[in-house]
Amino acid sequence: MGGQYHILTYGCQMNERDAETIAGLLGGMDYTKTEHIGAADIIIVHTCCVRESAENKILGKIGELTHLKKTNPNLIIGICGCMVQQKETAEKLLKRAPHVDLIFGTHNLHQLPHLIKQNLLTGTRIFEVWDEEGQIVENLPAHREGSLKAFVTITYGCNNYCTYCIVPYVRGRERSRSPEEITKEITQLGKEGFREITLLGQNVNSYGKDLIDVKMDFSDLLAEIDTIPDVWRIRYMTSHPRDFNAKLVHTVKNRQHICPHFHLPIQSGSNRILAEMNRGYTKEQYLDLISLIKEEIPKASVTTDFIVGFPGENEADFEHTLDVVKKAKFDVSYTFLYSQRSGTPAASMAAQISEEVKKERLQRLISVQNKISLEINQRLAGQEVIVLVEGPSKTNPDVLTGRTDTNKIVIFSGDKSLIGQVVPVTIIEAKTWNLVGKVKGL
Ligand code: SAH
Ligand code: SF4
Ligand code: F3S
Repeated sequence: MGGQYHILTYGCQMNERDAETIAGLLGGMDYTKTEHIGAADIIIVHTCCVRESAENKILGKIGELTHLKKTNPNLIIGICGCMVQQKETAEKLLKRAPHVDLIFGTHNLHQLPHLIKQNLLTGTRIFEVWDEEGQIVENLPAHREGSLKAFVTITYGCNNYCTYCIVPYVRGRERSRSPEEITKEITQLGKEGFREITLLGQNVNSYGKDLIDVKMDFSDLLAEIDTIPDVWRIRYMTSHPRDFNAKLVHTVKNRQHICPHFHLPIQSGSNRILAEMNRGYTKEQYLDLISLIKEEIPKASVTTDFIVGFPGENEADFEHTLDVVKKAKFDVSYTFLYSQRSGTPAASMAAQISEEVKKERLQRLISVQNKISLEINQRLAGQEVIVLVEGPSKTNPDVLTGRTDTNKIVIFSGDKSLIGQVVPVTIIEAKTWNLVGKVKGL
C-alpha cells in the first residue's frame, strides 16, 4: 500500500474539515499528498448536493477522471460525501461510472482504510453507504490545511428540516460532540500554533441540546473555549435565527477572543415564504435580533444567506426580501437561486418559479446588496483596523492578505515576516468585497 493521494473537495466547511480527516486516514496508510491529480494513486472526490449546480459540476469532474484510469489502471477512485449519501445518486454512479472503485457515505468516512484494503484484496468495487448515522467517532487522525486557521466541528447533522434543504437527509440527526473532546482538540491546535478557530455546525445555536448529563449551551461552550491559551480568534458557523439568543450576543460582547461577526442566514424577507420554508421566525423577529446585535456591539458585522425563487415566491414576497436587505444593512449577503432537491418537501410544491424570474430577482437583490456592502466598507476608509495576516494574496503574491475580526478581507503591502501576526493596518481604499490597507512605515 501507499503512494500518492489527491482529494477534490466540494461544498461547505464541514466537507473541508472532513477532507482533513480523509487526508489523515490516508496518511496513516502511508499515502502522501500530491497537488497533481495526474500523479495520484488514489483520488477521492468529496461531494456536495446542496444545489443542482454543485451536483452537475461534480458529475462532470467524475466523468473527466475516466481518462486518468485509462492511463493508470491501478488508480483507485473513491467518491464520498453528501451526494452519494443519497441512494439514487449512488446507485446511478455505480451503474454509469464503471471507473469508480469506492463509494462511501458521510456516516462511515472512518471506514476508509478498511474499504481501500478490501478493494485491493478483492479487486472488486466497494459500495458501503450507511443509511443512518452511528456514534460520533473521535480521535481520528487529521492532516490540517494551513497552520494558522483551523476548523473544529462541534455538531454533526441537522434536525431543522427546512423544506428546501437536503442536508438533514444526507448528514443525519443532530449530534453534539462532548465539550471535553472539543476543548481538547482546540487546546492541541493552540499548542501547534493555530491562532484562529472556526467552530462548525449546521446550527451551532442548538449545540448541547442532545447531550445527556451535560448542561451546557452554545454560549457556555464559547465562554469555555475563550479561555484556551494561544487561541486569538474564535469564529463559528452557522447560526440559526430560531435558536439565536441574547445570551450569545452578550457572550460575544463580554469575552475576549470571540469575533464580532454574526453569520445569520435569513433566506427570505417574506413571512409567508419563511413559514413555507419551516424556518421558525418572522422578518420582524429577525430584524429585532439584528437591532440587538448592533445595539450591544456597534462594530459587529452581520452576513446572511438568501434563497431567491422559493416555490410560490411572488413579487410582493420578493419586495420584503429587498426591504430586509435595506433595513438590516448586511455587510455581505450570499445569494442562491432556489434549487429543487428531490426528496425535500419544497421539491414537490406547486408553483415552482421559472429560472428566468429567479435570475432576474437575484440580480436585483445583488445590486441592492452591493451598494450597501460598499457603503459599509467606505465607513472604514482612513480608520485603523486590526488584521490577522494570513499570507500572500492568491491573486497577487506581492501583497499580503488577512482579515479583520469582523471577517473583512484586507490587502496590503508588507514584509512576509508579518504572516501569522496581528497587525494594525490603516484602510486607504474600500471596495465592495475587500479593503486595501497600509501598514505603518511602508
Ligand atoms: N445550516 C446552514 C447552512 C446550510 S447550506 C444554515 O441553515 O444556514 C448553506 C446555504 O445554502 C443555506 O443557508 C441556503 O441559503 C442555501 N441552500 C440550501 N438549500 C438550498 C436549495 N435547495 N437551493 C438553493 N439554496 C439552498
Ligand atoms: Fe439545511 Fe435548514 Fe439544516 Fe441549515 S438549518 S442545514 S438550511 S435544514
Ligand atoms: Fe453540501 Fe453536504 Fe455541506 S450537501 S453544503 S457538503 S453538508
